[in-house]
Amino acid sequence: MNFQKLSQNRRSVNFFDPDRDVSQDLVRQMVEMAAASPSSFNLQPWNLIVLRDKDEKKRLKSLAWDQPKVVEAPVTMIVLADQKGWQEGHPVFERTWKEMMASGMPAEQRDWFLNATNSLYNWSGDARLAFAAKNTGFFAMSLMYAAVSLGLDTHPMDGFDHEGVKKAFNIPDNYWVPLLLAVGYRTKDLELTPPKWRKSYEDIVTKF
Ligand SMILES: Cc1cc2nc3c(=O)[nH]c(=O)nc-3n(C[C@H](O)[C@H](O)[C@H](O)COP(=O)(O)O)c2cc1C
Repeated sequence: MNFQKLSQNRRSVNFFDPDRDVSQDLVRQMVEMAAASPSSFNLQPWNLIVLRDKDEKKRLKSLAWDQPKVVEAPVTMIVLADQKGWQEGHPVFERTWKEMMASGMPAEQRDWFLNATNSLYNWSGDARLAFAAKNTGFFAMSLMYAAVSLGLDTHPMDGFDHEGVKKAFNIPDNYWVPLLLAVGYRTKDLELTPPKWRKSYEDIVTKF
């Protein structure tokens, strides 16, 4: 499927077939494809909670404006953005540093790396949130396109009680939750509404 087709086929699908499961193998493929997303310094500050259990999905639905798709989709993901993913001592940070050294970075550059990430991502709460959210946004978009390439449908949602979801699923404080993502197969013979309007090239390109 070329990208034009992929982007046309991706729609936020409201009605999932509750009787059609998504295999664990497909979920794994979807996540592994999305894992190829770019991120600042390759720090990959994203994680996922993957819910399949009906009771867990019901718990999430009650915190997500009661949106039926949270339960109807066989898989609903809580996407997590790690606001500390740039920090010294964080396992992904340290793994990244190790990989950088393995590909030729001299050990004396450690201070440079610490200073670069600290100065870019730790100058305010907004900066820490932006670091986590922008990188995880790329990952989330990749998840949606990966799903389409595997014949699946998705629905992103930010209609949920952020603090309520964090509490209900024991999500540590370093995470911000940018979105929930329902994943499954649309109900049989579902007629989608026509694609929504989009900004044109002229609307998008600007200067000040
Ligand atoms: C971050 C994000 C959050 C969204 N939250 C919701 C939501 O909570 N409920 C909902 O019905 N749609 C939600 N949407 C879906 C949008 O309304 C939808 O993407 C948009 O109208 C364009 O339609 P399309 O995805 O079918 O192209 C969300 C989309 C994004 C990207």
